[in-house]
Amino acid sequence: TWSASSVIDDQLEKIRTQVGDGRVICALSGGVDSSVAALLVHRAIGDQLTCVFVDHGLMRKNEGEQVISAFRDHYKVPLVAVDAEERFLGRLRGVTDPEAKRKAIGEEFIRVFEEESAKLAEGGARFLVQGTLYSDVIESGGGTGAATIKSHHNVGGLPDDLQFELVEPLRALFKDEVRAVGAELGLPERLVWRQPFPGPGLAIRVVGGEATRARLDTLRDADAILQDEIRRAGLYRELWQSFCVLPDVRTVGVQGDERTYGYVVVIRAVTSDDAMTADWARLPYDLLEQIASRMINEIREVNRVVLDITSKPPGTIEWE
Ligand code: XMP
Repeated sequence: TWSASSVIDDQLEKIRTQVGDGRVICALSGGVDSSVAALLVHRAIGDQLTCVFVDHGLMRKNEGEQVISAFRDHYKVPLVAVDAEERFLGRLRGVTDPEAKRKAIGEEFIRVFEEESAKLAEGGARFLVQGTLYSDVIESGGGTGAATIKSHHNVGGLPDDLQFELVEPLRALFKDEVRAVGAELGLPERLVWRQPFPGPGLAIRVVGGEATRARLDTLRDADAILQDEIRRAGLYRELWQSFCVLPDVRTVGVQGDERTYGYVVVIRAVTSDDAMTADWARLPYDLLEQIASRMINEIREVNRVVLDITSKPPGTIEWE
């Protein structure tokens, strides 16, 4: 029978056998998979592991700090944190096409990661940890011949020519098993149950326009309110994803006696088993009311909130 603790024991031994006394790097994204992979490897070989966290400035509110403090301060995992916000925003300047955005972010990520990993390789690192899951193995080998809808980028998408041998302790696991292993390793509940978050981050949720710092900040504020209310309502785990989208659209409103001209925030919440199909979530009206009024009252730039009621198909989960 399957148990998280026996998976952990197995993997600890495998990792130790594979890397011996070699030095190992792990690209940490803040998601469940890379976090669990990093913790497993750290438990196996301790400070032979160095994690690299590239903060592209496209994370949700306070998320970068949370990742850094969990790993560096709580787990005492050696961590290189790269503040690359300026670089990424620079690369995104003037970029509005969805695929161009993904490409710019993917390329910049690889560039930053290569710079950091080259330094660590000089220090003798030979192994690279990836949080590849069983579903990733199937998906990339599956080759259905279907047209690419979106070019997915995540920290797993590193180039093959990096001079590292891969360590992939989650390769045989499904997502729910990864969560169980994470819980067993003492990963905080917030991280264990984190909803999926796209590699290109909030940049692909500022839609129809450029992902500027100002728009990202507005989106971050709206997203923080949504997450807060969804968690408070006890719905966070039930939803596959819940997030906001900020179209490059402003509408006229009225507040007091004043005309306003502000941004529209879209609420997107879906249920799903595997992201291949998804159903829009029937959030309670009172909750929607609470979310909308908080966003409009607390965020100066926002004067209208709408709900996305499109399932997948025909919509995709993300807007870009
Ligand atoms: P779509 O929008 O295609 O998304 O229905 C399906 C799932 O994939 C996530 N997603 C991404 N994840 N890099 C990622 O790591 C990406 O570029 C990316 N694009 C979409 C999306 O959040 C959803 O869970």
